[in-house]
Amino acid sequence: MERPQPDSMPQDLSEALKEATKEVHVQAENAEFMKNFQKGQVTRKGFKLVMASLYHIYVALEEEIERNKENAVYAPLYFPEELHRRAALERDMAFWYGPRWEDAIPYTQATRRYVRRLHEVGRKEPELLVAHAYTRYLGDLSGGQVLKKIAQKALDLPSSGEGVDFFTFPNVASATKFKQLYRSRMNTLEMTPEVRQRVIEEAKAAFLLNIQLFDELQELLGQDAEDQSPSQAPGLRRRVGSGARDAALTETPRGKPQPNLLSQAPLLRWVLTLSFVVATVAVGLYVM
Ligand code: HEM
Repeated sequence: MERPQPDSMPQDLSEALKEATKEVHVQAENAEFMKNFQKGQVTRKGFKLVMASLYHIYVALEEEIERNKENAVYAPLYFPEELHRRAALERDMAFWYGPRWEDAIPYTQATRRYVRRLHEVGRKEPELLVAHAYTRYLGDLSGGQVLKKIAQKALDLPSSGEGVDFFTFPNVASATKFKQLYRSRMNTLEMTPEVRQRVIEEAKAAFLLNIQLFDELQELLGQDAEDQSPSQAPGLRRRVGSGARDAALTETPRGKPQPNLLSQAPLLRWVLTLSFVVATVAVGLYVM
């Protein structure tokens, strides 16, 4: 006989996941990158970065979904026509990065970490794939719809949907009804209490992978803004480990990666700042 669930733990997996991820959802909404996005403070550069990460993430997610589409631990959630995002993201990549986008798109550390976990789950623990599909697809069908409108306005994109194909689900007539169907399918998955607990933990981990990605992108964008304001004293700059700095992310106006000499030579920056201060004082004394 199955043990009764404690009061605090809803019976349905869909309810349990919603409940268990409430806190990390708030954390995701409050990540600086997302907060700025919601305020309409999203630049082309930031948007291109996050979309490229999503491209890599969905390629991995959908590869693992295809691998497991006939496995009972995932099969009831297989909705390629309605949900799969790879083709849409490929169109978005071509829009944002041009015809040679495959060679041009960045692939950040946090994105790689997320992709690695998706492959691990798909190959070794497919019973946890539901957690990743839930976290992404139900999120895209919910808050994602608001983000699409914000991006179109902030980036002055055509209302035809070019550049934001990712957010458009042409084969989902009603997001609300589809989410209901998806939840009911999640609730048909048979799993032991032990697996169910691991699924819940994996969903929280999936949210955290997203949050780490937003934080990484924000850091990269922040560094770029700092690189463009030489008036700031070098000591006041936030530093990150050299590994987090992906040279390919420092774009010139034409999109060509270019190393930034000043950002790579703190001593040189100090010397320049010091020379400027000495020169200013000398001129001041001379004028007096
Ligand atoms: C600015 C950021 C975000 C906003 C404004 C937002 C907003 C929303 C809203 C309004 C809902 C619908 C809640 C409901 O129907 O009860 C929702 C649901 C959801 N969101 Fe988000 N969200 C954001 C970020 C995220 C992120 C980063 C993820 C994960 C990657 C995510 C995953 C989800 C999931 C899985 C659901 C479905 C919850 C359920 O019904 O079980 N959201 N979100």
